[in-house]
Amino acid sequence: RQLPKAQLSNQLMFSSILKPRPHNSHKGRYGDVLILGGAPGMAGAAVLAARAAAHCGAGRVFTGFIAEPPVYDSQNPELMFRRAADADFSADAVVIGPGLGQSTAAKQLLYKALQQAAKLVIDADALNLIAVDSGLQGLLSKRSGATVLTPHPLEAARLLEISGLEVQADRLHAARTLAQRFSATVILKGSGTVIADKEGYVFINHTGNPALATAGTGDILAGICGTLLVREAPAIDVAGLAACLHGQAADRLVEHGIGPVGITSGELIHAVRECLNEM
Ligand code: APR
Ligand code: MG
Repeated sequence: RQLPKAQLSNQLMFSSILKPRPHNSHKGRYGDVLILGGAPGMAGAAVLAARAAAHCGAGRVFTGFIAEPPVYDSQNPELMFRRAADADFSADAVVIGPGLGQSTAAKQLLYKALQQAAKLVIDADALNLIAVDSGLQGLLSKRSGATVLTPHPLEAARLLEISGLEVQADRLHAARTLAQRFSATVILKGSGTVIADKEGYVFINHTGNPALATAGTGDILAGICGTLLVREAPAIDVAGLAACLHGQAADRLVEHGIGPVGITSGELIHAVRECLNEM
């Protein structure tokens, strides 16, 4: 299955996820999303994921920081910031990784997330920690709730213990192997993002462009994915929609003459919201 570029096809393809909001709906219906990361010097990565989650319709977004949490986000004051150690893992979906770092505290948090999170997106340094820790690998393989890994090619290479060049030489194979080895749904990022699950389903996403080749866009994808995961749909469809939407937003910015050079996170996040509402 290949992700079509036309918006109409996307609507048909993802219609089970893209349901209109009932008039009498309540924020509880759209879920609590918990973002975990934000080590010293990288707090912004967690904030980006949290902003993306809020703009994709999460009922409430909580962020647990490894660093001292910011008091609030002046651009998005609806976001709730805590210390990671005080995070409530009963959220409907958890995203761990953006700006997480690889400290002992980060590793302990990851152990807890793998054991306690209902639905889980694993990104960035959380993937790097898993790559070198068999205990974490064991917990990952045993998870029963939906689990999505979002490696870029180097993170995928570390997980597979091969080189980045080998990953890029056969991206389809790398994504499928990761999905099977870790019993998870995988979004192997980069131009031509590959989405694969352990059952052998595969999507190749055609949306997106080099405007996305800038720091922070991966954090935004993780936030999108966590929020959409709250919806009752197969993880592979959610992961496909997240990647498609992320790329489509970047394509829209380029069509509007914003980018490919110098797009900022705020622009990308607003374009994601626009595309999602149109779908
Ligand atoms: N075409 C299409 N999509 C692209 C392109 C491209 N040429 N370049 C990048 N992208 C997309 C990827 O598919 C992915 O969704 O942009 C996103 C980039 O994500 P990451 O590689 O995770 O980048 P980043 O946001 O900087 O990650 C933040 O986490 O993974 C660590 O080391 C990384 O410190 C960094 C942090
Ligand atoms: Mg990243």
